[in-house]
This record gives sequence, structure tokens and C-alpha cells, in this order.
Amino acid sequence: MSRKIIIYGGASGIGLATGKQLKEKGYALHLVGRNEEALASAADELGAGFTVGDVKDTELFGRVAEDAGKSVHGLVYAVGTINLGAFQRFKEADYLEDFRVNAVGAALAVQSVLPALKNSFGTASVVLYSTIAVQQGFKLHASVGMAKGAVEGLALSLAAELAPKIRVNTIAPSLTDTPLAQGILSNEKMAEAIAKMHPLPRLGTAEDIASMTAFLISDESDWITGQVLRIDGGRSTLRTNG
Ligand SMILES: NC(=O)c1ccc[n+]([C@@H]2O[C@H](COP(=O)([O-])OP(=O)(O)OC[C@H]3O[C@@H](n4cnc5c(N)ncnc54)[C@H](OP(=O)(O)O)[C@@H]3O)[C@@H](O)[C@H]2O)c1
Repeated sequence: MSRKIIIYGGASGIGLATGKQLKEKGYALHLVGRNEEALASAADELGAGFTVGDVKDTELFGRVAEDAGKSVHGLVYAVGTINLGAFQRFKEADYLEDFRVNAVGAALAVQSVLPALKNSFGTASVVLYSTIAVQQGFKLHASVGMAKGAVEGLALSLAAELAPKIRVNTIAPSLTDTPLAQGILSNEKMAEAIAKMHPLPRLGTAEDIASMTAFLISDESDWITGQVLRIDGGRSTLRTNG
């Protein structure tokens, strides 16, 4: 029987690209998201099961655990926000929204399927997403930077607590061309300028991030846990302009 992977956010962007790569590798998939039509269409393409719901409704997580079954090999939490703005304009509601969707949702998603992950054949794997704006300061990122910093803290704690049965890693992408980033990328000049800031001078693609996700889910990475993998064209670590 194929090993099952749950993908929150599996109907678009990085989650969908990951689903396609994991299907190629022979995994069975279970997708989660809010838009039933998009989810049903992605599930049809990937031969996947799906659960419809919003990660801000905590009852969703129990339903996902029930729908996904008693043995789950992996969990990909590809849900997130890019809510950028000047610090003085953020309201309490912005911080709470970003924290809930990015960090609390990830924690509850893992918690709800813990027995099924422990029940998997071999080592199970969890992949969460941060951003390069956690380890490096970016202006306008106060709210999402704070929430994604919590994701990195969560992943590290879980990696320690759940070893050796469950591996937990985080991917920190730079700006990646997905529906989530369209607020920034719809401005062509800005997209071009940001692409040039990368030592490998382009924007990320959903496939770039999906490749690392599929690797982290697979047994090829079975001695890797507690890591933050920066997939960013060198942006967060390299200076190429002298
Ligand atoms: N794109 C980037 O530049 C970038 C950079 C750094 C980090 N990341 C992170 O990478 C991960 C994947 O992002 P992406 O760019 O692939 O985004 P995306 O294309 O917008 O996909 C996000 C998916 O999550 C689902 N989703 C969003 N809000 C949800 C909610 N409240 N409840 C349930 N499902 C929800 C969406 O489907 P529905 O709308 O149907 O619910 C969608 O399928 C996120 O954690 C993001 O923060 C992205």
C-alpha cells in the first residue's frame, strides 16, 4: 500500500507542485484547503482524497485526521500569508491572523495526526514553511516575520520531541512565483528588481520549493531533522556586489 502524505494547501502553489512530485514518487495524497472546487480538481488530477476547511476553524484538524486514516507517512503544511506593511500600521488582528494561519495551524495540523504519524511504516516526515525574512531582517515584515519565526521554533521543538520516529524540517523560501505572491509580483518592475537581488538572478518557482519538500518527505533524507533549509537563489547568505 502506498504511503500517505497530507498536504495542507495542496490545491495551489507550492502545495500543488509538491503533490505532483510526490505522486510521481508513488505516494498516496490527501489534500486540505478552503476552496472546494479547486481542491476537488487538484484531487482529481492527483488521485488524492481531500478535506475542505479553513485552518482557522480548529474542528478542521480532527476531520482531516479522520479522513486521512490510521497511518500517515508525512505532513506538508503549505498554508501561509504574506501580509506586508509599515510597522505602525499593523493592528492586533493582523498579528493574530498571521500567527494563527502560519504557526498555530501548523501545530494543530501535526498534533491531530500524531498517532497516525507514529503508526507509519518506518520514519515519518513533517515539512513546514518559514521565510528568509526570519533569519535576516526585512523591512515591512514585522507580522509575518514574527509568525514564521514561531514556525521555526515549533519545528525545532517538535524535531527534538518526536525523534527518532518523526523527522521535522522547515523550508525557508525567498520570493516564489505562486498565487500567494501575486500582490507583489503583479508589479512587473518590482518583480524584476527583486529577481535581480538573488545571486542566482530569478524568482523562485513552486517546483524549486516542491523539489526540496519531496526530498525531505522521502527516505533519501532520512538522516535530516531539525533543519531550516533556505531555498533562495543565494539571497540570504551571499554578497555578490563586492
Ligand atoms: N510564495 C512565496 O513567495 C513564499 C515565500 C516564503 C514562504 N512561503 C510559504 O510557502 C507556503 C506555501 O505558499 P504558496 O506560495 O504556495 O501559497 P499559495 O499558492 O497561496 O497556496 C496556499 C494554499 O493554502 C490554502 N490556504 C490558504 N489559506 C488557508 C486557510 N486559512 N485554511 C486552509 N487552507 C488555506 C490555499 O487554498 P484555499 O485558498 O483554497 O484555501 C492554497 O491552496 C506558505 O507557508 C507560505 O507562507 C511562500
